[in-house]
Amino acid sequence: MTLSTASFDLGNSKPGVAANAAAVRNAVEQHLERLVATLPGVPPNLQRAVRHALLGQSKRVRPVLLFLVAEPGPGEHRAALDAGCAVEMVHTASLILDDLPCMDDAQLRRQQPATHIAFGQSTAILSAIALLSRAFGIIAELEDVPEATRVRLTSILSNAVGWEGLVAGQELDVNGREGLVGVSEIEELNWLKTGILFVAAAEMGAVLRGLEDERIEAIRRFARHFGVAFQTADDLLDRSASAADIGKDVQKDGDKVTLITLFGTSKAQLSYEEHLAKAEQALVDSRVDAAPIRELMQRLFETRRAQEQ
Ligand code: IPE
Ligand code: IPE
Ligand code: MG
Ligand code: MG
Ligand code: MG
Repeated sequence: MTLSTASFDLGNSKPGVAANAAAVRNAVEQHLERLVATLPGVPPNLQRAVRHALLGQSKRVRPVLLFLVAEPGPGEHRAALDAGCAVEMVHTASLILDDLPCMDDAQLRRQQPATHIAFGQSTAILSAIALLSRAFGIIAELEDVPEATRVRLTSILSNAVGWEGLVAGQELDVNGREGLVGVSEIEELNWLKTGILFVAAAEMGAVLRGLEDERIEAIRRFARHFGVAFQTADDLLDRSASAADIGKDVQKDGDKVTLITLFGTSKAQLSYEEHLAKAEQALVDSRVDAAPIRELMQRLFETRRAQEQ
């Protein structure tokens, strides 16, 4: 495995796929760079920390997913990239906080020192707040998107990240794992801390595109299974991969209650394969262009399966 944190090398995508995941990922990368290129008025140290956290090597799964679901026409790329990058900022903020000594106490993130290691805890925390805040500003300021849509996108993202969403998941992850005993409880936690942002990204893509409710529901179902599978695969990597391969600390969650610690590796693998199968079915039900999304998932999980060997 060479691309390590990137963890899925999309470089050889088939040119025939209309919007292929690799091209979208490159576009996301460039767009993120633009969004934090020059920030007049931002203290230089804070700006460096934000750039460090956001622009490290990442798979960019969430913005790529949003874009592929949105299937924007030529004049609509900007809004889909802006919205995707807003989700990526939220995700990055969650990683900065997740790595702090009071949470997972990790040193390495995205193939480089975690933000608090490189810039100190105070600047890391402020960078996370800055990224979170800017994410909502970007949604509010989306060009050529009707106000009602911008409000709806804001609500989706806010609910996903807030105290009933990702923040709740992190609280339970860090302070409430002892009480977890069954598969459904652990998967509920994985849904909150990780799956919910996958669902927000995919739903935002569907809303931008103006899909009807029944198809949005299928998209939500798809992304929920995708996200829960993703977290279980991540937990497996925490035990089996090397830090060099995945670009972040490993063996961080060994004493936490997970599907693996409770039921073993095979059961965890089976669980994520089942979720991927359900994701595939929901993707078909949604009637969006499934090929590039399938490509994204296949490459992601193929690489992960290989790293688990
Ligand atoms: C890491 O997310 C945190 C989890 C939800 C497991 P990613 O694996 O998407 O991290 P990056 O964005 O590629 O760094
Ligand atoms: C990720 O959980 C969930 C977040 C919201 C950050 P992990 O703690 O497993 O993520 P990694 O493994 O550090 O990326
Ligand atoms: Mg964590
Ligand atoms: Mg962690
Ligand atoms: Mg992990």
